[in-house]
Amino acid sequence: MKLTTLKHALVAGLASGVLASAALAGAGAAVAQTAVTGALRADQPGPVIQPEVYGQFAEHLGRGIYEGVWVGEDSKIPNTRGYRNDVVAALKAIKVPLVRWPGGCFADDYHWREGVGPRDKRPTKVNVVWGGVEEPNSFGTNEFMEFAELIGAKTYVAGNVGTGSPQEMAEWVEYMVSPTSSTIANMRRANGRDKPWKLDYFGVGNENWGCGGQMTAAHYTDLYRNFAEFIRVPKGTKTEKIAGGANSDDYSWTETVMAGAAKNMDQISVHYYTIPSGKWENKGSATQFDEQVWADTMFQALRMEDLISKHTAIMDKYDPKKRVGLAVDEWGIWHDVEPGTNPGFLYQQNTMRDAVAAGATLNIFHKHADRVRLTAIAQMVNVLQAMILTDKDKMVLTPTYWVYDLYKPFQGATSLPVELNSPAYTVGKSSVPAVSASAGKDTAGVVHLALVNLDPNKSATVTVKLSGMTGKTAKGRVLTGPTMSAHNTFEAPNAVKPAAFTAASIKGDTLTAILPSKSVVVLDLN
Ligand code: AHR
Repeated sequence: MKLTTLKHALVAGLASGVLASAALAGAGAAVAQTAVTGALRADQPGPVIQPEVYGQFAEHLGRGIYEGVWVGEDSKIPNTRGYRNDVVAALKAIKVPLVRWPGGCFADDYHWREGVGPRDKRPTKVNVVWGGVEEPNSFGTNEFMEFAELIGAKTYVAGNVGTGSPQEMAEWVEYMVSPTSSTIANMRRANGRDKPWKLDYFGVGNENWGCGGQMTAAHYTDLYRNFAEFIRVPKGTKTEKIAGGANSDDYSWTETVMAGAAKNMDQISVHYYTIPSGKWENKGSATQFDEQVWADTMFQALRMEDLISKHTAIMDKYDPKKRVGLAVDEWGIWHDVEPGTNPGFLYQQNTMRDAVAAGATLNIFHKHADRVRLTAIAQMVNVLQAMILTDKDKMVLTPTYWVYDLYKPFQGATSLPVELNSPAYTVGKSSVPAVSASAGKDTAGVVHLALVNLDPNKSATVTVKLSGMTGKTAKGRVLTGPTMSAHNTFEAPNAVKPAAFTAASIKGDTLTAILPSKSVVVLDLN
């Protein structure tokens, strides 16, 4: 058998979990493998991984909302009161815990009154930030809140600081949450909603250092205190206030806002996008790339660890009791748009590269569960590193969607420390640990272990010493693909999807798992 054929056979065998270890041992001489050791301490429980770490971002951008979520009641695409059924079902299946809306940059241009009331009376605006297209305002506050209820997600609304006023923001909140018979609460009733909604999180602006108003940190801090003061919710209810945060490694922004307003907020955000090339003007194709670009992408994605560590170190100075959360409410890989699509719509394909980077990033969030209590990947449907792509009535689930599906058991689990001694995976100047891991114990007492093999060529044998637990079996699922750029299309929607994984076993206190190259594995240790 030629080496390449053998490699493919190995990947297929590992993915379906049918490869006998004897066969693997025989093949070991021909196929390069990484050996990784580690320890999982189930007797040292850490903080809970809040379900909201698995949040999604949905902006009025391209086909993210219109077509992606909302098709209107009269559409031929099967829908429930205007929300497309296929997308709703797919989002429910991964238990989306939270949705952030309406932006993004769109938020600081959005005036909520234009998006309520009879749809045929709502003004048509121009989405000046994203493609200059018409914004019909048919999806507004009522539609968002109803959508969140439909999929069972918490609500995170981003307010307008850039072109809005404290009064406009206060009245929006009143519209959503007031149980009184005030004129504004009655407007909500006249628009079809009697009971107040639950507004779980409210963001005071978005990227106010950039598209949200080009402000200095000091100016934003003053405005934050001013606007946040007027976010008033009924006694006995809680809406967490989220301060607009830094652009990736702008630590001085976090320093200034925390110093001036830590006590006025529940969370502060940070945005970080992985740009594979490191250059905004030429980010690179989502599907056409070589191994150097794969390695560069992993390196850029793993910068999240350093960013979170440094932002939280600043937060520790002003909030040593860790009351304030760090909301990573925009993150993901940003590629060049798919050829032939509107550059303002940020529509991109999604491959095994995106999936592996997502798994490794989620492992970082688990490790920082003490501060990172909410994240929102950008974005939910048809935009950037999306869960779901649609083309009119067709829908496809991306490799990143399947990572979120695999990682569901971590929502609400107690984080457990897992340390790996992993060799590096290095190409050119980009070097990262070949394998990344995280662990958690769910409320039923089952320990889950996530293992991500970032190396696109070598499988990895991972040996982990287990302490403080009595698990005897290790079963789970794996996501992998035949190539680095394997992805799902409307013609071949199931090219990349999870398979059962049984190439793992526990002997005494030691777990051994053999990970295919470029794979994401989640195991249940029972
Ligand atoms: O997610 C796309 C855009 O990226 C958002 O609108 C903005 O906040 C960020 O710059």
